[in-house]
Amino acid sequence: MAEKKAKITVLVSGGGTNLQAILDAEKSGIINSGEVSLVISNKSDAYALTRAANAGVKTAVVSKKDYPDAKEFEKKLIETIDSNGTDLIVLAGFMVILSENFTRHYDHKIINIHPSLIPSFCGEGFYGLRVHEAALAKGVKVTGATVHFVNEIPDGGEIIMQKAVYIEDGDTPEILQRRVMEQAEWQILPESIEKVCSKIICK
Ligand code: GAR
Repeated sequence: MAEKKAKITVLVSGGGTNLQAILDAEKSGIINSGEVSLVISNKSDAYALTRAANAGVKTAVVSKKDYPDAKEFEKKLIETIDSNGTDLIVLAGFMVILSENFTRHYDHKIINIHPSLIPSFCGEGFYGLRVHEAALAKGVKVTGATVHFVNEIPDGGEIIMQKAVYIEDGDTPEILQRRVMEQAEWQILPESIEKVCSKIICK
């Protein structure tokens, strides 16, 4: 009999290195309690879509610009997710803030990776390279990444895992971004997914 696995939907916007880490972790068995069933991008040219296709995972594009407002965009997003079915939604570099209506619909079923140690450098306006620019501008000596549940407060939901990363002399936002990905994000995102999925399938 096939093992029971939680069905995962991954939402992406860009390069998809975190998506790649998830797909690799599925292959290597680090993620054993869930499987990525659908990848949705809000950008039709996101390289993450190619990564998904290369792994044989179904993809969809739901772009804000095709809808009159955020409400209609989220309605289509929900339709796309629910028609495929999902146990867990993973925001892996998804650069859209979701409304309370959306987050309530999937209470404790959405997780996000954020490239800082929350509650530092998080919330509206802190995404991608901007987070690392802000950390360097502040002069902090330690940063890192956080995986958390998503609720109506941007980057405000319950924390699942965090990992610290040291800042080094000569760091630029780009160098720091890469180190945070390599030393923290690509490790704690798959581990958090396994943790959450193993609880889902035990329910
Ligand atoms: C990652 O660093 C992720 O933590 C960050 O965007 C990057 C996406 O890279 N997410 C946020 O800033 C969300 N607020 P990727 O497309 O290569 O995974």
